[in-house]
Amino acid sequence: MSILDIRVLGDPILRQATTPVTTISDDVQRVIDDMFDTMYHARGIGLAAPQVGRTERLAVLDLDNDPFVIINPEIVHSSSGRAKGEEGCLSIPDIYADVERPKTVTIRALDRHGKVFEREAGELLARCLQHEIDHLDGKLFLDYLSVLKRTAALAKWRLAADDYPGYIRRVALETPEDRNEHEHPDEEL
Ligand code: NI
Repeated sequence: MSILDIRVLGDPILRQATTPVTTISDDVQRVIDDMFDTMYHARGIGLAAPQVGRTERLAVLDLDNDPFVIINPEIVHSSSGRAKGEEGCLSIPDIYADVERPKTVTIRALDRHGKVFEREAGELLARCLQHEIDHLDGKLFLDYLSVLKRTAALAKWRLAADDYPGYIRRVALETPEDRNEHEHPDEEL
């Protein structure tokens, strides 16, 4: 397994829609393993294929030591009740904002063996699933913010963006010490 580079805000691939996976090939299996590796090294809880420069419609998640892959996921039900919670993104390091989303969702996806499964989720998992599926549709959490809050977030980001030439975040070169645990509550996806 290897740790991949993460694409950060500004890389056009983060705005492209992904392509459904038709064959879960050895290459796809390898990408999934590498994405888990990358997510863990970056101390994230979710990671979608476009974030590592891929176009497949798939993402990996792990909240509370429950790793799983969603391939070709779709949201089959969203609650009318909504909830607000803080989100961050591995592709927009150190920027956090409150986002309001449906409180619970049911998703349908394939697992890495090609088997269809459905999962109903609430709380943080519901938020993560929606955040990752958004990535697969070229959408970012900043898109949900008010103009004022988005402008503030982008101004903050512009100061940090120089650390990522070519919109590339070299995760393999980062050490856990680079990340202050209190400032980075492992809520990046
Ligand atoms: Ni993200």
